[in-house]
Amino acid sequence: MYKNVPFIPLAVIAIIVAAITAGQALLIDWLPPADSVEAGRTFTLLWFLFWCSVVFFVIVTSVLIYAVWKWRAKDDDLEDGPPTHGNTTLEVVWTVIPSLLLIVVAVYGYIVLERNEAVAADRVTVDVYAQQFNWTYGYGDAGIETGDLVLPVNRQAQLNLRARDVIHDFWVPQFGIKGDAVPGITHTIWITPNKVGTYPVVCAELCGVGHSVMRSKVTVVTEQQYAAWLAKSSAKVKAGAAAATAAAKLETAPGDAAAGKTVFEAKCGGCHAELGKKAGVGPALVGINWSDEQIRTQVKNGKGAMPGGLASGTDLADVVAYVQSIQ
Ligand code: CUA
Repeated sequence: MYKNVPFIPLAVIAIIVAAITAGQALLIDWLPPADSVEAGRTFTLLWFLFWCSVVFFVIVTSVLIYAVWKWRAKDDDLEDGPPTHGNTTLEVVWTVIPSLLLIVVAVYGYIVLERNEAVAADRVTVDVYAQQFNWTYGYGDAGIETGDLVLPVNRQAQLNLRARDVIHDFWVPQFGIKGDAVPGITHTIWITPNKVGTYPVVCAELCGVGHSVMRSKVTVVTEQQYAAWLAKSSAKVKAGAAAATAAAKLETAPGDAAAGKTVFEAKCGGCHAELGKKAGVGPALVGINWSDEQIRTQVKNGKGAMPGGLASGTDLADVVAYVQSIQ
């Protein structure tokens, strides 16, 4: 049965087609370096699929090229070809082999997905917030919020993706994992970076005019550097909170009306005429009967035409005392 198969010309064509295809595959950088455990698995699966496709592409293309060359109809030949019946053996072969291959790919793909989504006990959890057009990273336990992601090497990171407005997509090409950030839901992805370095974070979902500049970076550091960074950032957060508490304490402490008069003159006197006793651009403050809290809020936040933030700290407490003394 194989006596009629032209093995030699087919083999020559196949070698040429295979060389061109393999050249395309190997000479072009199709994928970034796999710098996470997950990317290693995914990219290997991808190359497995690719080389399977190359084998079938070479077989089909070689037979096609040979047939076109060998059995091409002459220019004046307008007849139909002779009728042919099916070839059962061939049909069974070309059904069974792809079926087996599909099963192999399905099982392999399942194993990769299963492993890539296996949750590690010692993982680092980071909340990723996407909004037009930037990324924010929250380290919940430490109270840290940053614009750039910092992850320890060789430890799984669980990223909880959330969107504050429209759909975005978190993507670090070298990590081989992409995840949509969708308003209203939390989408989780797991990445285990296995190389120290800095990588780009790209938004991979068209999300508005600033989509192309919606970038940040992720720095993968050693475990020690990560611990140090965490401690330093957390200390900064605590210092900030302490400073805010101290400032709030100053604002609510009893003020000095005489000192407040000077502050009022400098900061408020332009609009509130005669040190607040007559209406100018702003109203007169005599007889308003406000509580300390109302006056403080008004000075801090402003209202209507009055700008906020005119005084803070001790100055604010003093202004409150002064306004109390004239109202
Ligand atoms: Cu966010 Cu594109």
